[in-house]
Amino acid sequence: MFNFRLLLLLQILTIVKSQFLKPSVRVLHSSILVDKKLYIFGGFRDISLSDTIESIYNQIPDDRFFYLDVSNSFYTSNLPWTAIPDNEKNLPLNNFSSVLSGGVAASYGGKKNDTIYFINNEHDKTLPPVLTFNTSDHSWNSLFQPNITGDIPIGSNQMKPITDYNGKIYLLAGFSFTTPQNRNGGMFIFDTTNSSCVLKYDRFITNMLRVEYSATLLPNGTIVYMGGKGSDGKPIVDGFRMVYLYNTIDNDWKSQNTSGDHIPNDAYGISSVLGLDGFRIIVFDVDVDIDNKMLYVLDTTNFTWYEPNVSGTKPTKKRFDHTANVIGRYMVIAFGSGVGSGTNFNFTYRNISESDVLLLDIGDPSNYVWTTYFDPDAVMPSQSSPPQASSTQYNNKNKIRIIIGVVFGVLGIICITSLSIFIFIKRRKKLLNETTFPIPDNGENVKSDLEISSRASGSSY
Ligand SMILES: *[C@@H]1O[C@H](CO)[C@@H](O)[C@H](O)[C@H]1NC(C)=O
Ligand SMILES: *[C@@H]1O[C@H](CO)[C@@H](O)[C@H](O)[C@H]1NC(C)=O
Ligand SMILES: *[C@@H]1O[C@H](CO)[C@@H](O)[C@H](O)[C@H]1NC(C)=O
Ligand SMILES: *[C@@H]1O[C@H](CO)[C@@H](O)[C@H](O)[C@H]1NC(C)=O
Ligand SMILES: *[C@@H]1O[C@H](CO)[C@@H](O)[C@H](O)[C@H]1NC(C)=O
Ligand SMILES: *[C@@H]1O[C@H](CO)[C@@H](O)[C@H](O)[C@H]1NC(C)=O
Ligand SMILES: *[C@@H]1O[C@H](CO)[C@@H](O)[C@H](O)[C@H]1NC(C)=O
Ligand SMILES: *[C@@H]1O[C@H](CO)[C@@H](O)[C@H](O)[C@H]1NC(C)=O
Ligand SMILES: *[C@@H]1O[C@H](CO)[C@@H](O)[C@H](O)[C@H]1NC(C)=O
Ligand SMILES: *[C@@H]1O[C@H](CO)[C@@H](O)[C@H](O)[C@H]1NC(C)=O
Ligand SMILES: *[C@@H]1O[C@H](CO)[C@@H](O)[C@H](O)[C@H]1NC(C)=O
Repeated sequence: MFNFRLLLLLQILTIVKSQFLKPSVRVLHSSILVDKKLYIFGGFRDISLSDTIESIYNQIPDDRFFYLDVSNSFYTSNLPWTAIPDNEKNLPLNNFSSVLSGGVAASYGGKKNDTIYFINNEHDKTLPPVLTFNTSDHSWNSLFQPNITGDIPIGSNQMKPITDYNGKIYLLAGFSFTTPQNRNGGMFIFDTTNSSCVLKYDRFITNMLRVEYSATLLPNGTIVYMGGKGSDGKPIVDGFRMVYLYNTIDNDWKSQNTSGDHIPNDAYGISSVLGLDGFRIIVFDVDVDIDNKMLYVLDTTNFTWYEPNVSGTKPTKKRFDHTANVIGRYMVIAFGSGVGSGTNFNFTYRNISESDVLLLDIGDPSNYVWTTYFDPDAVMPSQSSPPQASSTQYNNKNKIRIIIGVVFGVLGIICITSLSIFIFIKRRKKLLNETTFPIPDNGENVKSDLEISSRASGSSY
């Protein structure tokens, strides 16, 4: 009886295991987290890509669009890559811009935050500009004008879209990297709740003509852009020394110099995430062979770069054009390629059994850990700020903190004044020099809160 059950269990486990996919390696794919699924779309693995090669990719729909099931624990040696139900039948592969023409940009959104938006590029005018995938019922839809009002957004796999807390996708227009040239900077703002889109031009238009950059949304609704390459194919000069902040609340830009002793070298094909504390940006860079460093942290409270403490077994092969997401306690890096001798892609990380997915436990900012085990129930750090916090909540929180600070400050001053009068009378000293008193703690708190609030209010724009 017992043995029979064990056998059954083993059989079930084998079936479950055999459902896992073994996807191809790739670069410039999209990875989108919705609920407990990390969806991977597209990408390519041949440097001399052609229509023929791409049609071979498209013969296996489950290798073009699939997900990593992050609802259960796993080891990166046995990744739970999973097929999407009815994907073979439903995935409208012919309706996506080809990778050869620049591919698509993808992010989540929709009224229920359950939909993935695929933004096609400008090359094939017969294709729907936007495709949507409802992750709840696996249905696909195409959006054409007039379903999309305003401007038609243009995506590509070298551009990084960001969805804000209100379902708006922000996507740099960048430049066209295949002819005809019809893109020249600006920012697409695509509201996924009503499919309206606007292309906004701005004063940093020339600074933001870049691809393969990284973009990170801060809890106050500001997106931090860094790195990337220009239309000359070269890395943006000082791409990490000078970062660009886009404020999604009033749609304005500002440039921001950074400092610190651990600034990444100019690079593209990097990825970044926001740390669980809500103010550190963690960058995974490709300089493995150059200085054996790959992790860089930007503290956005003072825009200082520093080298984090990292333990665990780090990856040994260079990778670029990967993607990164925060899932639970982990920064989850997917795929990417090393640079081969010459200009070929080099996926030799697989030859040495390095996983397609790299896990960095970022729960403790004073010590990040490379790990091979994903635990969905890993304890979250207590100081983590809520990722859903809207900018108004954020500002209100600050206002409350200012009020509390002021109240305590005033109370403190009253206490100290009373105390000084008391001491004055008691000791019957002739003169009381104010400067002999230590500056009260509460007074300091008021000051730092006001500093934070003036920074957060954007008054320095
Ligand atoms: C929408 O889903 C994303 C990814 O799962 C999540 O990070 C984000 O907080 C969600 N936004 C809202 C408004 O629920
Ligand atoms: C996605 O599908 C579910 C189930 O059919 C539905 O309840 C939901 O409204 C759909 N989402 C959108 C944005 O239409
Ligand atoms: C694909 O595009 C064609 C038109 O180009 C359209 O008729 C069809 O409905 C689209 N399919 C899906 C699933 O969106
Ligand atoms: C697009 O608009 C047409 C015409 O208004 C409408 O019939 C169709 O249902 C819309 N499609 C979607 C996906 O909203
Ligand atoms: C779409 O929704 C946004 C925000 O709710 C609103 O500002 C905008 O006017 C709407 N656009 C259209 C075309 O309905
Ligand atoms: C930022 O750096 C640039 C170039 O290094 C310099 O010209 C500029 O003055 C700096 N801006 C500020 C505000 O420090
Ligand atoms: C920047 O702020 C962090 C605290 O968030 C602090 O530890 C660090 O020393 C600061 N760096 C500089 C250069 O002020
Ligand atoms: C890939 O990189 C490895 C070293 O990491 C090197 O030995 C190998 O020759 C490279 N392969 C190609 C095709 O460039
Ligand atoms: C790595 O593995 C691939 C596929 O198995 C193989 O084609 C390639 O020759 C291997 N490269 C090296 C450097 O061993
Ligand atoms: C690195 O670890 C040491 C020892 O635990 C600690 O003092 C230091 O603050 C840590 N550095 C960073 C950048 O977290
Ligand atoms: C958001 O936070 C960043 C980092 O602290 C700050 O530089 C930026 O000015 C803030 N944006 C707004 C609109 O408050």
